[in-house]
Amino acid sequence: MGPLHELDERVEDERDDRGDKEHEQDPARCRGQGIEREDRQGEQDRIQRGTTTGATPGGTGPGSSAGRGSCGASLVMLRSMEDALPSVTLLFCGDVVGAAGRRALLGSLDSLRADHAPDFLVVNGENAAGGLGITPKIARELFTAGVDVITLGNHTYRHQEVWAYLDEEERILRPANFLRSQPGHGTCVVERGGVRLGVVNLQGNLFLDSGRTAFSEADAALHELSNRADHVLVDMHAEATSEKVGLGWHLDGRVTAVVGTHTHVPTADARILPGGTAYITDVGMTGARGGVIGVKREQAVRQMLTRMPVRFETSEEDPWVQAVVIRTPRGKRRRAESIAAVHLPAGRP
Ligand SMILES: [Fe+2]
Ligand SMILES: [Fe+2]
Repeated sequence: MGPLHELDERVEDERDDRGDKEHEQDPARCRGQGIEREDRQGEQDRIQRGTTTGATPGGTGPGSSAGRGSCGASLVMLRSMEDALPSVTLLFCGDVVGAAGRRALLGSLDSLRADHAPDFLVVNGENAAGGLGITPKIARELFTAGVDVITLGNHTYRHQEVWAYLDEEERILRPANFLRSQPGHGTCVVERGGVRLGVVNLQGNLFLDSGRTAFSEADAALHELSNRADHVLVDMHAEATSEKVGLGWHLDGRVTAVVGTHTHVPTADARILPGGTAYITDVGMTGARGGVIGVKREQAVRQMLTRMPVRFETSEEDPWVQAVVIRTPRGKRRRAESIAAVHLPAGRP
């Protein structure tokens, strides 16, 4: 969430978690469980670099018969591997804000599944608990509903009870470019239907205190995921549009998607960049659009008008799901063929 919430340290402690269940429904497989596929992926990467296992030492140049034979076999292997990678659909939901946002998301999942048939569901949950941060109970509720990965942002550590959980649960991410000494981790890999999705959470350095630089950490994260993910989705949680646009260009052709979060206001620039990366500067918010980026509007306006402290509460008025649907082409690693914004009113008869 943007700076508005930073002004109020007394925001309601909303803990009206509903129906939390301890069991999980068919969670996607987590980091560390897809390692058995590294050999196959490593082979594909070696092929793409021209260093195939069939190459003869000293004989892999373009003019050598060994090189020609190896190249032909490699192309066949590469074609086979790429053909085996199915098209997938990624659904990413912008910052879930408070109880209204959680209800909007959970109440819309059936409709979203019917309309878009997502293979993976990733949600930014940095405002899920009363507008600030997230608790383990709420995170489990989202996982139980079918969320594969939760990303976070500048409100990650609002609730102390989540600190240990960030280390324990692989599928909840805090920005990777926080200090290494801070709880949690910034990347994970989930797998479904033979496709491995790597997710990276980053936070901008303009107007936000992120500890380390996002761009260099993005490179480090991709190195970490090099042989472990067929697709990579990056959530860039940042205030400045310029920083998000810059990261999109920096990662174009190297990841499947770069999606922006934090401002809670969706941008109209969703597109496929020339290198094949899906991009949007900000996905928007899953929460009450009748407020001011999730806060009751009369309270936010009063603070802006008087410049005096005001107790903020999360708005319940006019909840929407704001998300993007990203589809990948069959047989192409880390490429997208389409990205479309989803703006879905929730809670209306
Ligand atoms: Fe947010
Ligand atoms: Fe934020």
